[in-house]
Amino acid sequence: MAQQTMQHQCSFCKRIINVRDQYDLPIYDPNTGFAICRNCIKEVNHFLEEHDAAQQQDEKQVFAGQLDDILAKNKPHIIKKYLDEYIINQDRAKKILSVAVYNHYKRMKYGYQHDDGTEIEKSNVIMLGPSGCGKTALLSHLSKLLDIPFAVTDASSLTEAGFVGADVEVAVRNLYYAADKDVEKAEHGIIYLDEFDKIARKSGANNSITADPGHEGVQQALLKMLEGSVVEFTSRGQRKHPEAPTIKVDTKNILFIVGGAFVGIDEVIAKRLNKASSIGFGAEVQGKEDKPKFDELIHQVRPEDLMQYGIIPEIIGRLPVICTLETLDEDALLRILTEPKNAPVKQYEKLLAMDNVELEFQEEALRAVARKAIERKTGARSLKGIIEDLMLDVMFDIPKSTEPRKVIITKACIEDGAQPEVVKK
Ligand SMILES: Nc1ncnc2c1ncn2[C@@H]1O[C@H](COP(=O)(O)OP(=O)(O)OP(=O)(O)O)[C@@H](O)[C@H]1O
Ligand SMILES: [Mg+2]
Repeated sequence: MAQQTMQHQCSFCKRIINVRDQYDLPIYDPNTGFAICRNCIKEVNHFLEEHDAAQQQDEKQVFAGQLDDILAKNKPHIIKKYLDEYIINQDRAKKILSVAVYNHYKRMKYGYQHDDGTEIEKSNVIMLGPSGCGKTALLSHLSKLLDIPFAVTDASSLTEAGFVGADVEVAVRNLYYAADKDVEKAEHGIIYLDEFDKIARKSGANNSITADPGHEGVQQALLKMLEGSVVEFTSRGQRKHPEAPTIKVDTKNILFIVGGAFVGIDEVIAKRLNKASSIGFGAEVQGKEDKPKFDELIHQVRPEDLMQYGIIPEIIGRLPVICTLETLDEDALLRILTEPKNAPVKQYEKLLAMDNVELEFQEEALRAVARKAIERKTGARSLKGIIEDLMLDVMFDIPKSTEPRKVIITKACIEDGAQPEVVKK
């Protein structure tokens, strides 16, 4: 049967189109006679592609321009100064993080402005330090300062796909939300994986097939992210299934910082050093008397110790900057109680001032709080709880009267449960 040919006129170029099937005239409205020929569609398409490319280029230029300002206000010493306002000690960790962030911005700027084949590689960071020494606190304060998206994900909640729990993609999804759902911004953000030690293989490096396949799987999945891959996830966080629309984020330029207490790693390091000492290299194991041995050991951590601890070597290879934090001693804890912008003592002083009451913590009382915290072995974490327990009765009783008073917290209040002294002013 001969094919029927109809004729239409393109509404744009006015060319007459011989139409045999829909491919000759993809857009045609029989009601109005409006038609567009294939040539015009191609033209428009071409125009849009060029326009979009130019627009993207413009946006990149604008962002690259902003990067100069961002770089100027995020120099390492400026970041460190900000961290100093909240975090006591841990100078080396602050320096490492400040430089890591500044270099991350620089790498971004270079990527936007140069195409000369040189690649500035990422320097992902691994942080180790005892419980309650400020790892999570450092990163959460850092996140408030940054001009790029930053997301914290608890690695201990991650599981291999198919297990109960969150897939590793969650870390990237958190970043995507921190970037207000802007993929391009997320692709230059920073991911902090907290509690990273919790995904170590339970029996360390020497276990082979059987032990802990789940954690090994999480590490393998994280490795792909660290190496740079396109991570796909659904916006609502349900597991991927064929119908759910997905978002794709390339992790190539995302900076990863991981941190954890790595409980027991000091023993792994000591073992290695002892082995070395038996052949004459272990003199450095003996620490100075005034520093806890734990700190001496942990500062000597090497990639092979992390491997022994149960982190796969490929991941360790992707975390070139090792940053160790120190144990907080009595003096440091005393300063944490009083110095940071959000120091517990400062907060209680302000709260009581609103009731016309002056609060005085005697230094010996604060030292007793610090000593109690040290006994609990949770670093600065228990400081707040100790002070809160102590202050409960004061906070309850003081507002009963509006009289101006002074409350004095003494050492006996902490050590023997004595009542704080209240004097009229
Ligand atoms: N160096 C510090 N300076 C000021 N405050 C600190 C410091 N270290 C800890 N803190 C306080 O103690 C709390 C607990 O610290 P943080 O959560 O950072 O511990 P961590 O090192 O992450 O420990 P973990 O390994 O147990 O998670 C913080 O919320 C913070 O208020
Ligand atoms: Mg923590």
